[in-house]
Amino acid sequence: MKISVLNRQIQAATVDAIIVNLFDGVKMPEGASGAVDTALASTDGVPGNGAISRLIQLGDFKGKLNELSVIYTNGLIPATRVILVGLGKQNEFDADAARHASATAVRKARDLGCKRVATIAHGAGIGGMTPREAAQATVEGAVMGVYQHLENKSQGKDNKAIDELMLLTADTKQTDQLIAGANAGEIIGNAVNTARTLANRPPNLLYPITFAEFAQQMALRVGLRCEIFDEHEISERKMGGIMAVAKGSAQPPRFVVLEHLPKSTNGTSNGAAGHESVQPIVLVGKGVTFDTGGISIKPSEGMQAMKGDMAGAAAVIAAMQAIAELNLPRRVIGLVPMVENMPSDRAYRPGDVVTMMSGLTVEIISTDAEGRMILADALHYAKRFIPRGVVDIATLTGACVIALGEGVAAGVFASDDNWAGSLLKSSAVTGERIWRMPLYKEYGNSIKSDTGDIKNSGGRYGGVGTSAWFLRRFIEGEDGEPAYPWAHIDMAAMDTDDKTEGYRIRGGSGYGVRLFVELARSL
Ligand code: BES
Ligand code: MN
Ligand code: ZN
Repeated sequence: MKISVLNRQIQAATVDAIIVNLFDGVKMPEGASGAVDTALASTDGVPGNGAISRLIQLGDFKGKLNELSVIYTNGLIPATRVILVGLGKQNEFDADAARHASATAVRKARDLGCKRVATIAHGAGIGGMTPREAAQATVEGAVMGVYQHLENKSQGKDNKAIDELMLLTADTKQTDQLIAGANAGEIIGNAVNTARTLANRPPNLLYPITFAEFAQQMALRVGLRCEIFDEHEISERKMGGIMAVAKGSAQPPRFVVLEHLPKSTNGTSNGAAGHESVQPIVLVGKGVTFDTGGISIKPSEGMQAMKGDMAGAAAVIAAMQAIAELNLPRRVIGLVPMVENMPSDRAYRPGDVVTMMSGLTVEIISTDAEGRMILADALHYAKRFIPRGVVDIATLTGACVIALGEGVAAGVFASDDNWAGSLLKSSAVTGERIWRMPLYKEYGNSIKSDTGDIKNSGGRYGGVGTSAWFLRRFIEGEDGEPAYPWAHIDMAAMDTDDKTEGYRIRGGSGYGVRLFVELARSL
C-alpha cells in the first residue's frame, strides 16, 4: 500500500473510495464530511440535504466508534463510493480512536476490492488533534488495519490489497505537517506489522538461527549496528541461563545486540562525534521461539500458542527498526536472547543448579520458568552500557494473565518511579495499556533456595510478583541496589488478539512496538 499526501478537496478525488467521518450525535456534518454531504445532495449545494445527512436523519448512522456505512455516489462526485466511519463520542475521542476508525474504514475499502482510496486525516478539525498527529494516527491505523499474515497460505495470496492510500487536505498550509505525520505513521505501523509477522510465523520456520538472521537483515536495511552471539560466544561469555534453557533443543541459542546511533542529516553516523558515549535506553525482549515447558512440560492443549513466546523479542526488534527509520535523536540498544525450550535427554531439569552470567546460582524448580532465566543474563549484560534506563518485555507468566485479564493490560514493575512514569506516559499516548504492579521485597522470600542462591519459581501465589523479583536480582550492582533504572513489562496477556476489530487483527498483536518508539521519542 503506497501512501501519499495530496492537496485536494476530498469530494474532487477520482478514486474507488473516499473516507470521511462523523462524531456520535452530530446532526449536521461539517468540514470534509459536510462538503461530501453537500456534493451528494440532489438539490445541489444545499447544506444538510445530502446522503450523509439522510443517513443521520433516518437514524441509520449514529457515529459510534468504528461504525461503518458505504454510500454509492451515482456520479455526483468522481469517487465510486463514500465510506463513512464513526469516531465515537467527541469527549471520548483521542488518537487511539482515530487509529481504530481509520483502520476500520480502510480495511472495509480493502475488502470491497478498492485499489485507490482517499481519506481525510481523522481528528484534525473538531477532534482537536494537530494535523501532524491526525495524519500519523490515520496512517498508522490504516497500515495496522489492513495487516494480513499470508506467508504460509498456498493460495489466494494478496488477491485483495489497496494499491494507494491518499491522505487529502484542502489546506496547503497543512501539507508539510501531514507529510511528516503520514511518514511516521507508515514507519510505525509497518514496524507493528513486522512484530506481528514474527509472532505469527510458525516455530518450525522461526527459531533462534532464523530469528537472529531476520534481525541482522533488518539491521542492514535500516542502518542499525548488529552483533550476534552464537552458542559458542554465549558459552564463552558464561551466559548460563541462556545455555541451560537452550540445552534441550537441537536448535542452538542466539543473543542479538542491536544499536541505534543517531545519524546526522548527511547520512553518516556521528557515533564517533559523541553519541557512543551517551547513556542509552536499553530494550530487552524475551525470545523463546517455542515454549513446550521443557521437562516440566505443558499440557498439549493450546500449546501451539507458545510459538508466540517470542513476542517480547519481536517488539524490541520491530521497535528498533522504527527507531532507526525515524532516526530518533537518541542512542537505543536492543538485547534479544533467543532460545527454544524443549524436553530431551540433554534438557536442563528440575533440581539442576545453574550459574548465571552474573555469578548468582539458580536452583531450577520448573523448566517452564525459562523466560526469567534468559532475561536474567540479558539484564546483567545490560549493565556494561551504563544505561539511562532499561525496559524488558516478556510473555513471562500465566499469573499476570490471571491478575489483569486476557487482552486487558500488561503488568509493569519498576525499580524507579520516574522511569515507570515515562513508560506510563508513553502508554497513554499509544493506547497500549500497562498497569503498575508492586515490587515488594517480600516476593524474594518465595524464591529462597536451599541449594542455590535463589530458585526460578516461587510457586502459585504471587507468581507475577515473584517472577519480577527474580529479574530484580539481576539488575543489582555490587551493593545490591539497582545498577540502572529498570522496568519490566509482563505482556503474557497481550501477545495475541483473538478478534479483528479496529486496528487489532486476530493473531500476533504487535504489542509494545509503539510503546517503545514513543518512549524513545519522548525522552
Ligand atoms: N511463556 C510462559 C508464560 C505464558 C503463559 C505466556 C500464558 C503467555 C500465555 C512462561 O514461560 C511460563 O511457562 N510461565 C510459567 C511460570 C511458572 C512455571 C513459574 C507459568 O506462568 O505458569
Ligand atoms: Mn515457560
Ligand atoms: Zn515462556
